[in-house]
Amino acid sequence: MSGSPPELPIVVLDALMPTAQRLVADRRGSMVWEVESCRGRYAVKVGHPIEATADWPAQPWTALAPAREGAVMYRLGRADFAYGEWEHGTWNLQPWHEGPDLHRLWEPCRRSDSSAPPDSSVALGCVMALADLHAKGWAHGDVQPAHFIIGPDGTQLIDLALARGGGQMPKGYDFPFRGCLVHYEAPEIARSVLATGEAEPTQEADVYALGASLLISATGWRVMEYPDDAPRSVQREAVAKGRRRPVKVPGELGGLIDSMLSQAPEDRPTIFEVGKALSCL
Ligand SMILES: Nc1ncnc2c1ncn2[C@@H]1O[C@H](COP(=O)(O)OP(=O)(O)O)[C@@H](O)[C@H]1O
Ligand SMILES: [Mg+2]
Repeated sequence: MSGSPPELPIVVLDALMPTAQRLVADRRGSMVWEVESCRGRYAVKVGHPIEATADWPAQPWTALAPAREGAVMYRLGRADFAYGEWEHGTWNLQPWHEGPDLHRLWEPCRRSDSSAPPDSSVALGCVMALADLHAKGWAHGDVQPAHFIIGPDGTQLIDLALARGGGQMPKGYDFPFRGCLVHYEAPEIARSVLATGEAEPTQEADVYALGASLLISATGWRVMEYPDDAPRSVQREAVAKGRRRPVKVPGELGGLIDSMLSQAPEDRPTIFEVGKALSCL
């Protein structure tokens, strides 16, 4: 695969007969395309394994992630998606959601000369999207600003590849949860990953991750204190120890975000309580 420009697997070309396509993300182990076809506009996710390098162990699970997300979408009763296998791993297709993500939408709030307070109705949209998943008995496991797409018809929470709780996954497509982006990782998840290499995604950890997402998007500051260039394990240690930065979002939204970022999971509000409090602001 290396060398030549990435291409959509033939099985996806056959399924969608694209009239236009654009590679939107090409990260280690995962590619995402925006694909236009006569059936509509789709996001196509294609996974392949990450081979070991000098400073990175092999990660075979990235090949399975799109199919695992497909199985989650199936369990959730979502419409208009498909998933399957290709030569190097698995793929899925799902409706394309138009709009900026939370981090991009709140960019004006982060400017040093900004007087724009973060819009609590945008926060409420994110809360509702996560509440919808929690109400069905799932934890998302990978809540982060890039996963909330704020579109004209509401807010969508994407990337369900790590979600858990609503039933067994097909064995061939399942893999253990090894934590998420450290900036959004709850202390109890960080501690478990440091101790065992794995953790259990929970709704409480999702609430923390949403609090961290709102804080970072509104202020540009991470929840915890650690250097930008620190190795991941050092960052995780700081999160596990709860080395909190003294940063707050202005106004009543700030107090609510603080409670979502409580160290102990049992001290955090549920997503439904957050929604209720936000609708009263
Ligand atoms: N359904 C979708 N609609 C619009 N954009 C999407 C969609 N799915 C993925 N994307 C875009 O692709 C990026 C990566 O997708 P994501 O689902 O997070 O996969 P991964 O984390 O495996 O790269 C997202 O941040 C978003 O910009
Ligand atoms: Mg993602």
